[in-house]
This record gives sequence, structure tokens and C-alpha cells, in this order.
Amino acid sequence: MKLTFWIDREDRTLAITIHPSNANLHGELKVPGDKSISHRAVMLGSIADGKTTVSGFLPGEDCISTIQCFRALGVKIEQQNDQVTIYGKGLDGLKEPETVLNVGNSGTTNRLLLGLLSGRPFHAILLGDESIAKRPMDRVAIPLRKMGAHIDGRENGKYPPIAVRGGNLKGIDYESPVASAQVKSAILLAGLQAEGTTSVTEPSVSRDHTERMLKSFGVNVRRNGTTVSIEGKQTLKATHINVPADISSAAFFIVAALITKNSSIILKDVGINPTRSGILDALIAMGANIQIKNKRMFNDEPVADLHVSSSELKNIEIKGDIIPRLIDEIPILALAATQAEGTMAIKNAEELKVKETNRIDAVATQLNRLGANIEPTDDGMIIHGKSNLKGGAVDSLGDHRIGMMLAVASLVCENETTLENESCINISYPNFFEDFQKLIKK
Ligand code: S3P
Repeated sequence: MKLTFWIDREDRTLAITIHPSNANLHGELKVPGDKSISHRAVMLGSIADGKTTVSGFLPGEDCISTIQCFRALGVKIEQQNDQVTIYGKGLDGLKEPETVLNVGNSGTTNRLLLGLLSGRPFHAILLGDESIAKRPMDRVAIPLRKMGAHIDGRENGKYPPIAVRGGNLKGIDYESPVASAQVKSAILLAGLQAEGTTSVTEPSVSRDHTERMLKSFGVNVRRNGTTVSIEGKQTLKATHINVPADISSAAFFIVAALITKNSSIILKDVGINPTRSGILDALIAMGANIQIKNKRMFNDEPVADLHVSSSELKNIEIKGDIIPRLIDEIPILALAATQAEGTMAIKNAEELKVKETNRIDAVATQLNRLGANIEPTDDGMIIHGKSNLKGGAVDSLGDHRIGMMLAVASLVCENETTLENESCINISYPNFFEDFQKLIKK
């Protein structure tokens, strides 16, 4: 489907036009709940004893896939918008599913469920959409098999559909070749059900929401440098989870405000967990005017209100330990870099190739169509600023974060931009265009 956005014309209601010279953002907004934390709240609530309530849940397609999978595993879950109630009956309360578990577009659902089901004494098959069928599952299958799970799939368990028969796990000491929270979390969820201790060491620390939320459910998890350890056979106690606004969604409007003239916005209750806030560090180092105010905690997760206004940006190099701390924000960071002075080299980001699309190629091809100057490399990209973007026809390629980044890019294009395949944005941000419109209108 083709969509033309009209941002500053009263006669067109559907989001974007492209009058870059006068488009700016104003006002206050709370973006929807964090996707990673929402998934984990459903998963841990489902294996806890008792009633877990969740507020601020993200009702995006990915997290709904997680709810549907747990319903198929026999868990009663009520969901209305951002409020969820989960009637957990403990790990032993999960039942062998009578149908295939459909993870949709969600890599997190697929990988974390594989870890969890590795400890359950039954058979399950996990299946998803075309994008999921291309995403590597051997990164979790290899360690989970070492723990004793039976896992198979296309190409010897590398690609979905994946079948798992779990049970009788033993703890392992695993050194992961990638800094991936999905790998770490899958192993921890299996480790929770294993004999003895399970430890995972990563090359650098990935998002730690699983560790933090396990603590909220009364489970003891230890961290030592880049290693996390969990004792098997612990039980979870139901709790209330208040989900912070998703910094990965906020990032689109942060960059929109930075790269347009005379913009000033406030984004409320944004999760600023240090394993996720690399985008703030990178933009501030580039000269962004971002103030982090009213810091507080939602359960074990830090949140704050972000005050953001138009800024003159200068490019820097992005590499090393910051990469896992901003991996999902690289598409929108690349757009910011096209509007900054100098050159940005992004290195050590080969993980981008195995996201919902190959995001190195997707960012470069789509932004270059609008007039950017981006060279894709083997482990990242080189972005030459400052480009005058012209506009034109672009495609999300079915990747929600590419779609939202391109919608923001249209703000600084000289001519109209049309975005194809925009509906995938529902995966992580169902009301994205409405919220975008609200900030533009004020
Ligand atoms: C996620 C972890 C990240 C991230 C993904 C969500 C999670 O993937 O890109 O959007 O919720 O654990 P990796 O852990 O595979 O890098």
C-alpha cells in the first residue's frame, strides 16, 4: 500500500507532507511501552505463581504475538490496550500446545520462548512470518542443546520453523560470540529450570531487562562484569509491572525535533536503562540539546522525561561497546547523521544484517533514494553529512524501524515523500502517525 503523509496541510489528515522548511515539533508526548520489557512481563507473569498485572504494556503486533503464544500454552491472559492481567500457574502450569506457536515478526518471542520451552517436558513448534524465516536461531539452539534440549529446524535448527522438546536441563557456562540480549535471556530462562548454575558471558553487555525483571519476580540473578549467573529451580512470585515508554520509539521523535528548526518537545516516562541509552549518549556527543529530567524508577527500570530541542549536530564515530546499547536506533541515528556536519562511521554493527531486514542495506538504499550519501560497509556504514534530502518514493521493506525512520526523514526533504509498506509500523508503534501528527500540529 502507498501512503502519502501530509504534515502541515489541514485538508489531508493522514500524517506527512513535506514542507520541510516550516515543519517543526512542539508539545508533550508519552510514547508507547517498551517492547522488550512488555514481552518479558508477559513471559515472566505467565510462569509466575499468581496474578501479575502490567500497565503501560505495548499493544503492538510483536507483543500481541507473545500473548497469543502463552495463551496457546494454556495461560489465561486478559489484555485491554496497555493493561494486561496474567493468571500465572507457575512453570509447571504451561501445557503442550495443540497448535503451532505463531511468533509473527518477533525475534524476541521466538528466541526467548525457545529458551523457556527448552525446560518444559513437551513438544512445541515455533513459526513466524517471512522475515522470521530468515533469522538465525542457531545462536540459541547451540547453547540450549548443550543444556540438554532437543531442537530442530531448517538447516539443522538454524532457521524457523523450529521444533523443541525440552526437559531435564543441566546448567552450563556459556561464552556467547555475540552481545545479544535474546541469546542471554533464552539461556537464563532455560537456566531457571536447570540443575545447578547457568552462566552467560557476552563480549559486551546487552540490554539487561530480563535480569532486572527476574529480580522483580523474586528470582536471584548475579552479575560479575559481562557475566550473569542464575541458580536453577527458582520460582517466580507474581507482581505488578509498570512498563516505561520505549526509548527506541522515543528516538524517532528525538531525532525529528533535533533536525527540524524551532522544535521543542518533552517525551515523558522514557526508559533510560544504561544498556539502552546509547542513543542519548551518541546524540549528546554530537551536540544535541537533550535534557534528562525527573529521573525515577519503574520497578527496577530507570525512567526520565526528555526535553529535546533543535540542534546543530556534528558527526562522530560510533563503534565498540556502545553498539549493543543503541543497536535498534542505528537507522534513526543514520538519518541524524545525514543532517550533521562531517562524516559518521558506524563500525562493529554487523548484527544489523540479521534484524527484521538487513538494516545496513535498508538504511543505505532507502536514504540514498531520498538524496543521502551513505556507503554501506561490512560491519556498518559511512554517512557523509550534511545532505539536502530531496524526497521521493521509499519503502519500509517490511521493517517497522526503517518505516518510522523514513517518515521522519520526510520532514527534512524538499519535495514530497511517499512511503510504501508502512503498515509494519504497527509491530512496535500502532499509533505512530497519530502521535507524529500531534507533535507537528501543536
Ligand atoms: C531485543 C534484543 C535485541 C534487539 C531486539 C529486542 C530483546 O536483539 O535488537 O529488538 O528484547 O531482547 P539482540 O539481543 O538479538 O541483539
